Amino acid sequence: MKTEILKLKKEKNAVILAHYYAPADVQEIADYVGDSFYLAKIAKSVEADIIVFCGVRFMGESAKILNFNKKVLVPDLTADCPMAHMVAEGKIAEMRRRYDDLAVVCYINSTAELKCQSDVCVTSSNAVKIVKALENKNIFFIPDKNLGSFVARQVPEKNIILNDGFCPIHAKITAEQVLKEKEKHPDAKVLTHPECEKEVLEISDFIGSTAEIIDYAKDSREKEFIICTEEGVSCRLMGDNPHKKFFFPEPCPCCVDMKLNSLKTVLDVLQNEENEIIIDEKTRSRAMLPLDKMLELAR
Ligand code: 13P
Ligand code: SF4
Repeated sequence: MKTEILKLKKEKNAVILAHYYAPADVQEIADYVGDSFYLAKIAKSVEADIIVFCGVRFMGESAKILNFNKKVLVPDLTADCPMAHMVAEGKIAEMRRRYDDLAVVCYINSTAELKCQSDVCVTSSNAVKIVKALENKNIFFIPDKNLGSFVARQVPEKNIILNDGFCPIHAKITAEQVLKEKEKHPDAKVLTHPECEKEVLEISDFIGSTAEIIDYAKDSREKEFIICTEEGVSCRLMGDNPHKKFFFPEPCPCCVDMKLNSLKTVLDVLQNEENEIIIDEKTRSRAMLPLDKMLELAR
């Protein structure tokens, strides 16, 4: 399958982007592997005719919005991030009525419809920087309450109003599970994604996006790490650091939607060019504004 994928990719002038949470064999055949922010920047700049995005639906949508002339294919159209939908109907309009100077800050893990109602997008690697750079005092942070409250603690000068969305995978990691690992590996440093609950962040040595966790582990002199994020990062962590040890809380966090990407589904979409992400022009021109603002403010 790998040989066939590489052949078709060349023939059709396609490029494969994969998130760190995609299965290891999919990461292996991808041209670009990264966190949400890196992949959004790549999606905007690639020149291939076809982008095959191995992530979840909102990532494919963002790629299409940022690079509208490309054909964006996703290996499985049902691979969706549950958190991307977690904002109650009418909530954004209600907040805008309540605060004159409100900025709606939208985590990139959100539907195109939510982006259309937002002022700026953020990812876990640039949220603090972007919120700090905004002139607005009042911020409605959607959809993730955990990333939102992490940002609120880093930027106390802003009034950050939280929404009650969450990532079901990261929110399942408990402080108790982490402490259990810590008992088994007392010297291990705890590296945590900000989508985790506050109690987990409080007992962590480092908090960052998937790419930041990977960089931290690589640069660190320490030899053992407890990783509080989705298990797909282990592929890069172990590849970069064969002499270091990585442990995950039990049960090991696994995003079933990300795992819908497979060599078989990648090959299928390259062959039949089905599962195209379609966005209408009106949605694309509105949803592009917060994405472009993110790219500008994060520069
Ligand atoms: P990052 O890619 O920003 O680390 O976010 C993780 C995530 O949950 C993506 O769905
Ligand atoms: Fe969504 Fe969480 Fe899966 Fe990321 S890990 S795609 S935030 S459900």
